[in-house]
Amino acid sequence: MTPSLLPTPTHPGPFGHKQRKNFFFPEGFTQFNHGSYGTFPRAVQDNMMKWHNQAEENPDRWVRLDLRPALTQVRSQLASFMNCDKNELALVQNTTVGVNTVLRSLDFQPGDCILQLSTGYVSVDKTVHYICDSHKNVQIVEVPITMPLSDHEIVYQVEKAVQQHLAKNDSSRIRIAMIDWISSVPAVVHPIKALTDMLKSYNILVFIDGAHAIGQVPVDLSYINPDFFITNCHKWLLSVRGSAVLYVPKKYQSGIHPTAIQGDYKTGGFELEFSWNGTMDYSTMLSVEGALEFRKQYGEEAIMHYTHRLAVEGGQLMADILGTNVLTPYEHQVGSMVNVRLPIKDVNHPKIATPDYLIKHLLDKYNLFAPSYLHGGYFWTRVSSQIYLELKDFERLGNVWKEVIAELNSETDRGYDDGTSQ
Ligand SMILES: Cc1ncc(COP(=O)(O)O)c(C=O)c1O
Repeated sequence: MTPSLLPTPTHPGPFGHKQRKNFFFPEGFTQFNHGSYGTFPRAVQDNMMKWHNQAEENPDRWVRLDLRPALTQVRSQLASFMNCDKNELALVQNTTVGVNTVLRSLDFQPGDCILQLSTGYVSVDKTVHYICDSHKNVQIVEVPITMPLSDHEIVYQVEKAVQQHLAKNDSSRIRIAMIDWISSVPAVVHPIKALTDMLKSYNILVFIDGAHAIGQVPVDLSYINPDFFITNCHKWLLSVRGSAVLYVPKKYQSGIHPTAIQGDYKTGGFELEFSWNGTMDYSTMLSVEGALEFRKQYGEEAIMHYTHRLAVEGGQLMADILGTNVLTPYEHQVGSMVNVRLPIKDVNHPKIATPDYLIKHLLDKYNLFAPSYLHGGYFWTRVSSQIYLELKDFERLGNVWKEVIAELNSETDRGYDDGTSQ
């Protein structure tokens, strides 16, 4: 096999700790949770400030003349990046807003069902519940998912749920499916093309929650061809928090309106309705321009290759330190986030019943943080790889978890304060 010339954990090229100077991290802090809220390089903040200052210099010129062309320009850049038409894209604040925008616009009828996976994100799940609560006889079809599963098994589980629903042969129908491209916890890259094709073959609308997609995996919307797609630019694309892009093909646009209705409702059309969300600062959305510029100097392939390899190798290194395993044996299901099993003896340990103790303990004592969660009866940590991390960071995190877990396990062995011995 020809060795790859792309940056890898052992040959990081421009990546690794030399990138720290491009970000805002204080000395001693290591960021292992890029997946939750993202973070952006200094150059991207400069770009955001360019827009922010332009607005302040002349607010009327900005709002009345310059804002809309600036948003259009960013939509064009994103359209080239994701291989779609700029007129099918709207900039929104985040994935939560994007999901609400579509679901709260659709005219759900009695008997409609919304399919979702049990691993879907909480705010999406709650929005689906809200739709059911606010419409007569709209129900959820939930597909139980416990990872690890192969791509084939994931598609099979979802199709089985569709077929079981059809077999009921009543007047209900699955109208739309909410599918993660990359789920949050556990973090798993789903077989998105196969899922989309399968669901569409049953005439089910497919809404892809791509909160983690852009910047982590190549996104080609013409190829995937979903009915709706939302992705956060402020996670893996490295723009400023408060920047996401919603994809709505032209055939659906007349029925989709922003969550906050403004003066362009019914008169402006899709583009105008989504080019004004009322008075606010649009510089975070426009910072996508700076993020794309920052990434261009390295190239998408190099960034994704490095962060993927680092997640795969770093995850395995941590699992070796902890004497455990990574969640999925399929490397292609790991994007830039890896799930490593934590050898916690008692998953009901009172200290971890809520996330608060571990959040504070990891941040206060070790100056780092990686989320942990229960899945399939085990505790896992989700570790985000990024261009500013190296393998030795994963090694340190593995050792930190080892120490934290040794403490928890010794408490389990001794019995807890209330005298319960496990
Ligand atoms: C899969 C998934 N969907 C939706 C969201 C919500 O994103 P936001 O908070 O930017 O709206 C997240 C956030 O992490 C997520 O992981």
